[in-house]
Amino acid sequence: MKSVLGKLFISLFMVGSLSALAASDIFIFQTAKIKIDNKEGSIFIGTPVKVLKKVDDKNVLVEFSGMAFGDKLYTGKTKSLLMATKKEGSFADEGQVVKVQAVIEKGYLSEVPAEIWEEHEEFFYEMCTQCHGAYKPQSHTMLEWDAILQTMSGFAQLYEDETEYLSRFLKANASNGFYPEQK
Ligand code: HEC
Repeated sequence: MKSVLGKLFISLFMVGSLSALAASDIFIFQTAKIKIDNKEGSIFIGTPVKVLKKVDDKNVLVEFSGMAFGDKLYTGKTKSLLMATKKEGSFADEGQVVKVQAVIEKGYLSEVPAEIWEEHEEFFYEMCTQCHGAYKPQSHTMLEWDAILQTMSGFAQLYEDETEYLSRFLKANASNGFYPEQK
């Protein structure tokens, strides 16, 4: 009995020491409006969330965590990858990691990251393989992609919104992005 308790303690401790992202199992399929503390907000494509419970036939309560900077929530202090925004008030003190709960329609959730990013990926292959082979998004970190895109978006003659679109795909799938375990 003693040893069973010991094991239980160890496994709980290990779960706690993993990042909150790794514990997530479902993802935002499409940027969507949500309610956070009864205030309007948005959650952005690709963000990992955990489903806590069903609210009604259409909606579920989800939880996600990130680093707060004013009314924006990012994956980390480099503010490379935006997870959510909130209309009134800030999420927490600057740079604080917080857990957020929100109500969202089930239709906005997907279990398969590859499905979420299908159109982005097509655009990426179309625009970024004219001069060289495709570099896998996982081959670079988010910050590296920011730097690389500064030259490459010019090379590919992308408009600003196209660069933004591609940037989110590359960073979400970067080696330290939303899905690091899928490297
Ligand atoms: C007009 C040709 C051209 C296009 C289009 C182009 N690239 Fe490049 N790319 C290059 C050249 C030349 C290099 C090598 C020299 C350099 O690093 O500047 C390179 C290098 C790279 C590297 C390696 C950089 C490193 O330091 O590891 C990456 C990653 C990359 N490109 C990504 C992209 C992406 C993403 C796009 C689409 C937005 C793109 N490229 C579009 C010409 C192009």
